[in-house]
Formats: sequence, C-alpha cells, structure tokens
Amino acid sequence: MIITGKYPKLRMRRLRKEDWSRRLVRENTLSGSDFVLPIFITEGKNKKIQIKSMVGVYRYSIDNLSGIIDRAIKNKIPMIALFPQINKKLKDLYGSEALNEDNLISRAIVKIKKKYKNKIGIMCDVALDPYTSHGHDGLLKKKEILNDETIKVLVKQSLLQAQMGCDIIAPSDMMDGRIGEIRKELDKNGYEKVQILSYAVKYSSSFYGPFRDAIGSKKSLKGDKKSYQMDYSNLNEAIREVAIDIKEGADMVMVKPGLPYLDIIKEVKDNFKIPVLAYQVSGEYSLITNAIKNKILKQESVYETLLSFKRAGANAIVSYYADFLDKILK
Ligand code: PBG
Repeated sequence: MIITGKYPKLRMRRLRKEDWSRRLVRENTLSGSDFVLPIFITEGKNKKIQIKSMVGVYRYSIDNLSGIIDRAIKNKIPMIALFPQINKKLKDLYGSEALNEDNLISRAIVKIKKKYKNKIGIMCDVALDPYTSHGHDGLLKKKEILNDETIKVLVKQSLLQAQMGCDIIAPSDMMDGRIGEIRKELDKNGYEKVQILSYAVKYSSSFYGPFRDAIGSKKSLKGDKKSYQMDYSNLNEAIREVAIDIKEGADMVMVKPGLPYLDIIKEVKDNFKIPVLAYQVSGEYSLITNAIKNKILKQESVYETLLSFKRAGANAIVSYYADFLDKILK
C-alpha cells in the first residue's frame, strides 16, 4: 500500500472537490456494452403484458419485440437473454415442450435472428423449469431431481437452440457434468462456434420469486431447489463449481443472484480471470424499483448498485434495468 503523505499535507478530499476532478480519477464506469437485457416472451399477437411483481417489465409476444430490441441496439447492449412463458397446457412432468422444434423459444430465436442478424447476440437459458408441470429445472422422480437423465434432455435442448440460431447457450439448471456433455454435442454437430455461458454459481435464493411469477412456475413449484442450486453459506464451493465448468468447456461464467454475492464475483474473477457475468435477479429489481416508487430511495440507487458489479469485477450485468439505460446512464 503506497500512501504519499500525511495530514495536513495529504488531503483525500482534494481530488473529490470538483466534478471534473472526480471524473478524472474515476475507477469504474458503466455503458450500454456492460449490459445483458432479459426479455420475457409469451404466446399470442400484439401482446405486451405487465408482470405483476416487476413494475416496468413485460412479457412480449414474438411479433411485438421490435420496440424493446431496437432500444437495446440503440443503447449498444451486446446481448439479450430470452425467457419463455409457455402455455400451461404444454407443461408436463418431463418438460417435453423444451424439445419441440417449433416451441416458443425456437420461433423467437428464428424471428429475431432473421431480422437483426448479428447486430445483437441472443442467449438462451438451458433448464426445464419453464416447461415442467412441477416447476423444477430437471426431471423429478420420487422427490429427487435426476442428474444424468436430465443432462440427456438438456443436451438436446441446447442443440435445438443452437440449430435455431442461438449464439450463447446458458445452462442455468445446476446439474453436475452438463457443460462437458453440451459442449461435446454442439461440437459433434458442427456448432463448435456457439458459446457456452455457464450459470456456474447459482445459489438457491429467495430473490428469484418474481421471475418464477413471470414464467408461470411459481405456483406450481413443488418443494425447493436446494438439492441442485447452491447453499448461500458457501464460497469455496463456488470456486470449485467454476473450476469444474471451465474445465468442461465454459467460455464464460455467471454468478447469480447479484448484490448479495459481490464477494463471490470478486473471488471468481481474481481466481480465474475468465469473463464473469453478474445476474441482478428479479427480486433485487423489484426491491429497488418498489423503494424508488415509494420515494424511499432515489433513482440514483439503481446506478449505484449496477456500478458495484463492475467494481467487484463483473464484465457484464444481466439486469432488467437494461431496458431503461437512457434514464439510468444519464
Ligand atoms: C431457472 C432460472 C431462474 C432464473 C433464471 N433462470 C429461476 C430459478 O432458478 O428458479 C432467475 C432469474 C431472476 O430471478 O431474475 N432456470
């Protein structure tokens, strides 16, 4: 640690005095390129439906996406993340709809790719929870989430997404060994250029509540996800998860949720020097947004929390606020 003097010769406030000076020595900043925008997709025509527990966030029908995607491109956002809310009637024990070539997510990818080409990247979640009647990310048998059987389905789901034109496959299911199997299958089928972003560190968190509402899995979820998502008491385990996924072929890793896990982001970055994304999840969004709405917090609290991810070492932030960048970055 280098300290260049001592009070009264040394005064830290000297550099903070004027705005120009604060800007001059600023260590971290935010721009559009730091964000990934999650988009919820639903069936139907000309739909834009407010999600109850997430003020300002909507589900869009495929034909109604150009507004939000044009805005993302204008704001220089490099990538969108698609999440489907499928018709309840299509959900079953096995999440079969995930493998339907003509499912909601397939149609969305094809349509977006056709219109926007490579102006923006598309990332898709690999997990079964939008498709299963029990709301779990994997196959359920007698209260157990099956690992190896689930991987077989996830591998097919990944390949289908790649075939449709998805740029980044993002397994968020937390099964053991799925990154390696998915990489193998993609390569075998000529998709060696498709990237894998592993949700390597995903904690079993109560901050996912509003998201489950958004994809319609909240009421149906049987039990909890503690047997596959991580225990939030643990840091060493996160390091092991990341090491394993990198070895299996992950190009980037995700830490999720965001704000309560800044220590994890920093540790992962310091240890592996791999691109790390942070996911500011639905519960964090709702918490801050509601506090602003009720005049408990100022609008600037959004910028402050988002910047903290960069300071912790994240390369990018998945955030529902990415749709309001004109307001937030101003
Ligand atoms: C499920 C998935 C979840 C989120 C993204 N993918 C929820 C869960 O694991 O139950 C949460 C995102 C958010 O809360 O914003 N595979």
